[in-house]
Amino acid sequence: MLVDSTVAITGASSGIGAACAAAFAKAGARLVLCARRKDRLTQVAGNLDTDVELLQVDVRDRAAVDAAFGGRGDIDVLVNNAGLASGFGPLQEGDPEDWDRMIDTNIKGVLNATHAVVPSMVRRGRGHIVNVGSVAGRETYPNGAVYCATKAAVDRITTGLRMDLLGTGVRVSTVDPGLVETEFSIVRFHGDADRAAQVYEGLTPLTPDDVADAVVWVAGRPAHVQVADVVLLATDQASATRVARRPQG
Ligand SMILES: NC(=O)c1ccc[n+]([C@@H]2O[C@H](COP(=O)([O-])OP(=O)(O)OC[C@H]3O[C@@H](n4cnc5c(N)ncnc54)[C@H](OP(=O)(O)O)[C@@H]3O)[C@@H](O)[C@H]2O)c1
Repeated sequence: MLVDSTVAITGASSGIGAACAAAFAKAGARLVLCARRKDRLTQVAGNLDTDVELLQVDVRDRAAVDAAFGGRGDIDVLVNNAGLASGFGPLQEGDPEDWDRMIDTNIKGVLNATHAVVPSMVRRGRGHIVNVGSVAGRETYPNGAVYCATKAAVDRITTGLRMDLLGTGVRVSTVDPGLVETEFSIVRFHGDADRAAQVYEGLTPLTPDDVADAVVWVAGRPAHVQVADVVLLATDQASATRVARRPQG
């Protein structure tokens, strides 16, 4: 299924996106990897044994995304993974710049990349959009209203796009993880690594490879099978707000 296919992954310079790059490479796919940090993309690509094209693109920049993806007709799978949480606290005390960063990346970034890639998939009568959503899109948690809202929007974009593409042969899926240990929390807490580490303290979170396994499984089903959604939780997590933590010695 994936051998010799071309897979584009946004946010491939770190975490889940980098793990997806490795997993798709192992499955025999060619890769188009996109992120803002070119040095980190180069590092990721250095470990991959497949054809890799690197695109330094900010998914918030619609013109840049169009220039990078719009003219090409070779992408078989687009993994819309680029995303972030920025800030953690009550909405009434929130920083509107954090809101812009999340809304522009998590919602508009997904729309920009999808809009640039889908028309060529429709013309070819096949293709697959795999969005990386979150349990945060299914449940709201305190101090995360705007991030949860952006991931809820991704869920609606996923289901809406699936309806709009019905009959075209193009598939739409979402993979929605719970806690995954990546740079996500460091970014959320604006570089405060100690605070970020506390998120995972006393529990065993998912790894980026766990999520990549699910993404590759979703993309690797036969063309007539459309996995609508996969929700992936650590065994130590029961919901967005319920986790089991063991006392630290
Ligand atoms: N970690 C979790 O617990 C968790 C749980 C559920 C869902 N998720 C979702 O999983 C996805 C990946 O996150 P992660 O956990 O792997 O975090 P991460 O390690 O911080 O990776 C985020 C990736 O997104 C890229 N990115 C951010 N803003 C971008 C932009 N404007 N343009 C292009 N690329 C951008 C980053 O690359 P550059 O900085 O180089 O641009 C990086 O490669 C996100 O959508 C996140 O919401 C994470």
